[in-house]
Amino acid sequence: MKNIVILISGGGSNMAAIVKAAQRDGWADKLGARVAAVISNRVDAKGLIFAREHGIATEVLDHRAFASREDFDTALAVLINRFDQPGEPVLVVLAGFMRILTQGFVSRYAGRLVNIHPSLLPAFTGLHTHQRAIDAGCQFAGVTVHQVTVELDHGEILAQAVVPVLPGDTADALAARVLTQEHVIYPRVIADLLQKK
Ligand code: GAR
Repeated sequence: MKNIVILISGGGSNMAAIVKAAQRDGWADKLGARVAAVISNRVDAKGLIFAREHGIATEVLDHRAFASREDFDTALAVLINRFDQPGEPVLVVLAGFMRILTQGFVSRYAGRLVNIHPSLLPAFTGLHTHQRAIDAGCQFAGVTVHQVTVELDHGEILAQAVVPVLPGDTADALAARVLTQEHVIYPRVIADLLQKK
């Protein structure tokens, strides 16, 4: 079984969309894949509740307990590698995981580490993407799923979806519109990647 490990920091709606797609589309039978674990760096991440209710193993690794980024990432890899056995490759899915990852971590999972970013990359890397798109007068905004490389919010683009920016949009309104598209494209990209693995 190919194991998917999803990393979250908050609401986990993308994680939930992936879990629901896996169930709805029969990933276990069709792709030999399952969401094996959800790991959060925050104990209060709401997504943990959804994961537990769906019988998925959860782990919390509080980054504040570690002296350095390297130490945290090393411990994170130890957790992930419980699901990374020979013949059972793991796909590491960042779903609102608000941590910058070290070079060591990124190279360890190169080619099987993906992220979703709420902008049309390469525009608006980093934070506050929706407000920045509104402030820049963009008529369209959107979301990007990409391979993770050492440079933040770079890496091969795997899929994008576009939404209009509407007159009078607030960052929250635009974020909600983008999020509905995130839930469509992220599960699709993951299914495609699993098919190729
Ligand atoms: C999503 O909009 C995701 O694109 C964004 O955080 C939100 C998480 O929502 N990710 C980033 O900003 C990464 N830099 P969720 O927890 O409900 O999936």
